[in-house]
Amino acid sequence: GIYTEMYRPQYHFSPEEKWMNDPNGLVYHEGIYHLFYQYYPDDIVWGPMHWGHAISKDMVHWEHKPIALYPDEHGLIFSGSAVVDKKNISGFAKNGETPLVAMFTYHLMEGEKSGRDDFQTQGIAYSLDNGETWEKYAGNPVIKNSGIRDFRDPKVFWYEETEQWIMVLVAGDHAKFYSSADLKDWRYASDFGKRQGAHGGVWECPDLFALPVEGTEEKKWVLLISINPGAPNGGSGTQYFIGEFNGKRFTSNQKEPKWLDYGTDNYAGVTYNNTPDDERIFIGWMSNWDYARDTPTEKWRSAMTLPRNLGLRKVEDDYFLVNYPLQSVDDIAKSVLARLDDVKPNKQETIYLEGLHQSQIKFKTASKDFMLSIKNASGEKVDLIMDSKSESLLLDRMKSGQMSFQAEFGNKKHYAPIQRLGKEPYEVSIFLDWSSIEVFVDGGLYAMTDQIFPTEPFNELIVENKDSNHAIQQISILGMQSIW
Ligand code: FRU
Repeated sequence: GIYTEMYRPQYHFSPEEKWMNDPNGLVYHEGIYHLFYQYYPDDIVWGPMHWGHAISKDMVHWEHKPIALYPDEHGLIFSGSAVVDKKNISGFAKNGETPLVAMFTYHLMEGEKSGRDDFQTQGIAYSLDNGETWEKYAGNPVIKNSGIRDFRDPKVFWYEETEQWIMVLVAGDHAKFYSSADLKDWRYASDFGKRQGAHGGVWECPDLFALPVEGTEEKKWVLLISINPGAPNGGSGTQYFIGEFNGKRFTSNQKEPKWLDYGTDNYAGVTYNNTPDDERIFIGWMSNWDYARDTPTEKWRSAMTLPRNLGLRKVEDDYFLVNYPLQSVDDIAKSVLARLDDVKPNKQETIYLEGLHQSQIKFKTASKDFMLSIKNASGEKVDLIMDSKSESLLLDRMKSGQMSFQAEFGNKKHYAPIQRLGKEPYEVSIFLDWSSIEVFVDGGLYAMTDQIFPTEPFNELIVENKDSNHAIQQISILGMQSIW
């Protein structure tokens, strides 16, 4: 590949250079998946926000494009979404083109500095050439601010039942819903969430969509809400609510938060609009505001999670989101690095393997007690521990390499409660890249995503099965090709 700097992800999206945060404007149109993102082109720390841009045919191989949106007199360009206006209801097309319309938050720095509360407004922009070039709407902002300090991150989608555009944005401790016929004129509809879910920090980057429940005809609505701070393992994380939506109001009887990912590095994730088979595809920012500015890379900062399919699973009368990497990710898992024999109850296996640091490890097991250690020659390691006694899955990066850049980074194990894990053999799959690990258990019922900064490549895997009854089976380790 062409990107070979220390820690450069080899099969995750990262910007060619400089600072990146949230994914924005995820939309599919005419064979192209667009990925826009919060971008500061002048430094590797957060600064005046632009929308960077990349395109892909499979969401795995990406082509970098020029910056799509620059700040203007209304402010910096914060997070938002994009839709395909198939019927040109916006009227932006003049010669039969199909407009892509982006909706984003304007953040007026001067307004914030002068102590006002109305410095975040919503604006739109359109493209008539499938995202190549963008024009801001002359009537911006399309939603003004009536004095709400945090008022941002609009997610727009088409709601067939009422033939309206629906938009959800966040306002500090709750979400607000709006509707529009033409994407320009927005009508407020309702609020959600003041007394539901987690409130350890400000709500950010909402998303709302319907999903079928696995193996049934049932359909439920899911509201994603990122929160910073207040995640279960510290700093930023993404909670979700399951409920109903009637075109105006989202309702859920859920009081406690549910979490999409128990690692510390999956934030501000949202889903694609207009995907071919109504697939619900999610991409998150693989970092955490606790230490995002401090991670030890030099030319660029941070990457996106693998693209993941979202589904809904009913477990004992309750509904849970599952998230699992797309098939197109498996398609770059080519070379077989190793296939191990079963690790029998109370046994341990060690294998040395070049290429382990860029691989996918998979196995099946009904064991509820095991430990996987992924190591390098310097003794740096990441451990994955399944522990039946505490009913938890632990991801331990406390000795994973560079960590001193920030106190919160390596100070504790990351924990996921696993009460819902099935009794049957379930699958564990682990995706290792140069500076990240993503763990999916039971088809994504549990996910954990962490950044890591080992000082040399991992090349040793220890599988320790502490269960007295069940083997760890069908262990395969596949090398992942570079996407660059
Ligand atoms: C989330 C966030 C958004 C905001 C953007 C600014 O990470 O804080 O709420 O729009 O980042 O870059």
